[in-house]
Amino acid sequence: MAPAALEAQSQQKEETVAHNSVLSSSSVNDTTHRSKVSVIGSGNWGSVASKLIASNTFRLNSFHDEVRMWVYEETLQSGEKLTDAINRTNENVKYLPGIKLGNNVVADPDLENTGTNLRDANMLVFVTPHQFMEGICKRLVGKIRADAEAISLVKGMEVKMEGPCMISSLISQILGISCSVLMGANIANEIAVEKFSEATVGYRQNRDVAERWVQLFYTPYFIVTAVQDVEGVELCGTLKNVVALAAGFVDGLEMGNNTKAAIMRLGLREMKAFSKLLFPSVKDSTFFESCGVADLITTCLGGRNRKVAEAYAKNGGRRSFDELEAEMLQGQKLQGVSTAREVYEVLSHRGWLELFPLFATVHEISSGLLPPSAIVEYSEKQVRSF
Ligand SMILES: NC(=O)c1ccc[n+]([C@@H]2O[C@H](COP(=O)([O-])OP(=O)(O)OC[C@H]3O[C@@H](n4cnc5c(N)ncnc54)[C@H](O)[C@@H]3O)[C@@H](O)[C@H]2O)c1
Repeated sequence: MAPAALEAQSQQKEETVAHNSVLSSSSVNDTTHRSKVSVIGSGNWGSVASKLIASNTFRLNSFHDEVRMWVYEETLQSGEKLTDAINRTNENVKYLPGIKLGNNVVADPDLENTGTNLRDANMLVFVTPHQFMEGICKRLVGKIRADAEAISLVKGMEVKMEGPCMISSLISQILGISCSVLMGANIANEIAVEKFSEATVGYRQNRDVAERWVQLFYTPYFIVTAVQDVEGVELCGTLKNVVALAAGFVDGLEMGNNTKAAIMRLGLREMKAFSKLLFPSVKDSTFFESCGVADLITTCLGGRNRKVAEAYAKNGGRRSFDELEAEMLQGQKLQGVSTAREVYEVLSHRGWLELFPLFATVHEISSGLLPPSAIVEYSEKQVRSF
């Protein structure tokens, strides 16, 4: 839909807020004060996030209708560019086929020149595989509003010389803007067909900003709760992918549900211990939010990390994760293997390997040092209670 038509339509929309709104009626009625949203990323979850967001920006007066979604450009087998296909069909034909995104989603392949749009956007949603985030942020330096707020839906972290760096911190450090996070038990394909689920927004200080993010994502089938614990929420979302690999090994070896439950319990304990050692401010209660135990359960039952790890174990570790990822995921990215390596680097560097036998063993299996059966062959005597 043309931007002018979208704007005309937005004049008619009503402010029907499903929960606490933080914007005054004078500001929402003034189009110059409407928030403008850009989504940076358009994979499986990026496309579903754009659909959720677009349904709210279209409905609520406090937002401009149009949601611009940055696409890492690819040429499809048909020869058509992915961006053109998305704008022609209103579907992400590669990463989320069969789901309409909403007419107010506009795909754009030009990151810097998403330009006029990014310069105008005051709400930036980051949702790409974590390994691409540093490069993307560097390309955006000087191209965004100084008062923009960011939210990261990215699960993963960067390990630097000076220690681990969460993706929300990377965004804040490179772009000089504040960054919240949204994580939860959110397998994208289920939310795409509007099955009920929950999510957690982690925010640093400003409750009003958190409420605006909640407002942007919340729908009757996607219940969003805010907690003041960015690191806790983000580490839950990041570390559960390591536990999901362990669950996949157990499934591949057909060890049964009791073993898988044991692995999930040990994993949750290591997630909490690791998070609190890195950031003492992390709250115990965060592990009971959607981003914690719920995301751990769904990822260990479904999810791509579990699935590929299952195939890895079934093959006795003879086929590499890279090969299985390319064969099984059609361009989607695994996060668990790189996160397991990054966690292992932190554990070795800090002398914590013996405190986290599950995390350490997952990396040693996924890098081929140990066979998949080693997943139940370590001692947990060393694990301290935190
Ligand atoms: N898919 C899910 O169910 C789900 C749910 C919650 C969170 N997440 C998280 O969301 C984030 C994004 O995952 P996704 O599922 O949207 O992506 P995806 O794995 O489905 O797709 C990969 C994306 O990376 C892009 N890409 C490939 N090479 C690139 C490059 N060099 N530079 C930049 N982009 C490149 C592809 O175009 C594609 O958009 C990840 O951190 C993931 O852990 C995913």
